Amino acid sequence: MNIGILGTGMVGQVVGAALAAKGHTVMIGTRDVQKSLASTEPNGYGMPAFGLWHKDNQHIKVGTFAEAAKFGEVLVNATSGLGSLEALNMAGADNLGSKVLIDIANELDFSKGMPPRALANDTRSLGEDIQTAFPNLKVVKTLNTMSAFVMVNAALVDNGNSTVFINGNDANAKAQVSEILKSFGWHDIMDLGDITASRSVEMLLPVWLKSWGVIGNTPFNFKIAR
Ligand SMILES: NC(=O)c1ccc[n+]([C@@H]2O[C@H](COP(=O)([O-])OP(=O)(O)OC[C@H]3O[C@@H](n4cnc5c(N)ncnc54)[C@H](OP(=O)(O)O)[C@@H]3O)[C@@H](O)[C@H]2O)c1
Repeated sequence: MNIGILGTGMVGQVVGAALAAKGHTVMIGTRDVQKSLASTEPNGYGMPAFGLWHKDNQHIKVGTFAEAAKFGEVLVNATSGLGSLEALNMAGADNLGSKVLIDIANELDFSKGMPPRALANDTRSLGEDIQTAFPNLKVVKTLNTMSAFVMVNAALVDNGNSTVFINGNDANAKAQVSEILKSFGWHDIMDLGDITASRSVEMLLPVWLKSWGVIGNTPFNFKIAR
């Protein structure tokens, strides 16, 4: 399948490479193709600059947000949460159409340092804002509650026995995204309901970030034991 990923950071790189390894054809979108391909500075998580990463991943296409949105039959939002609506506006409603958008983003305010403040609350979330701004899109929120490496390899935590949440308004879209999740080794896929459930999963981020402060870079994840 052709998959368009909006976002050149750690998630875009790791999820893009994993989808390509599963046989999908991937295009990653960015604001400025030449600037991203020329980048050499590692990002804040120590991931290689997109430009250096792409030299080793030339099978992955690179385009503008609009080109990646047009290319993908299924889309992934892997942009900074505070810039997601801007990125989707740059992608363009016509290119987004009524496609499935896997929304991995979190709206985090780093302005007062670490840990950042999650901006979702019990009345709003980024997932809902995206669905409202682009009503034809089939937004499926998932994978935002774990690190990028765990997203694409569930077996990294507890032999694959941790939980991935999924929510969105369209049952068929959730079923299609669940197949992609299963290809990454997920089997405890917990459907939390419609797009308003994005509030709860986005509000988990402060817990994840505090846990990261304690555990460090050993892979970990939420598990709903029952
Ligand atoms: N890193 C993780 O392990 C992890 C885990 C769970 C969830 N997430 C979430 O996944 C998303 C991606 O995270 P990340 O660490 O891969 O990358 P990131 O640094 O959060 O985001 C990088 C991407 O956001 C775009 N961007 C930033 N500001 C923008 C703006 N004002 N307008 C349009 N686009 C903008 C950048 O565009 P350019 O390409 O043009 O620079 C780049 O493609 C975030 O929402 C994050 O909270 C990350």
